[in-house]
Amino acid sequence: MNDTKKLLIGAAVVSITAGAVYCLLRPHKKPSAQELYAASVKKILEPCDNGKVLTSKDVQPPCKDDLKGAGPKYIIVHGRVFDVEHYMSNHPGGADILRDQIGRDATEEFDVIMHSPEALEEMVGLYVGMYNPLK
Ligand code: HEM
Repeated sequence: MNDTKKLLIGAAVVSITAGAVYCLLRPHKKPSAQELYAASVKKILEPCDNGKVLTSKDVQPPCKDDLKGAGPKYIIVHGRVFDVEHYMSNHPGGADILRDQIGRDATEEFDVIMHSPEALEEMVGLYVGMYNPLK
């Protein structure tokens, strides 16, 4: 093998090795805010499942009078039912915004503001069960 060939093979080996090292060590792409939010929803809300299932009979939009009395005030978020009866007046986003969602699926409205992990932790204490509208 002449010197030129040796040089070419050497250069090829060096560039392949450098490429492989770069692929292994290159900084990973930072997850987006949406990806981080989705991961905390999964991590915090999934473990609270307790086997209880509520149906559309249990979770219904109330009539005006139902709202005055004591009793559970259910909201559906991410397929789960939360009782906000005692939390409403403490909600940093205001009680009215929660009152409007009683008996409804508020997932979209909930996700729009990407609630913090602290808010999600707060929800664990309000958790009632999974929601299955078809049952
Ligand atoms: C069901 C249980 C809920 C809990 C425990 C909860 C908790 C919280 C907390 C702790 C905050 C302060 C900001 C943060 O930490 O993310 C917040 C803000 C807020 N929440 Fe909720 N939330 C709930 C449901 C909802 C729903 C269903 C909606 C929409 C319909 C909503 C709309 C808002 C809004 C608009 C703010 C104010 C955001 C701002 O001004 O920066 N929340 N919530």
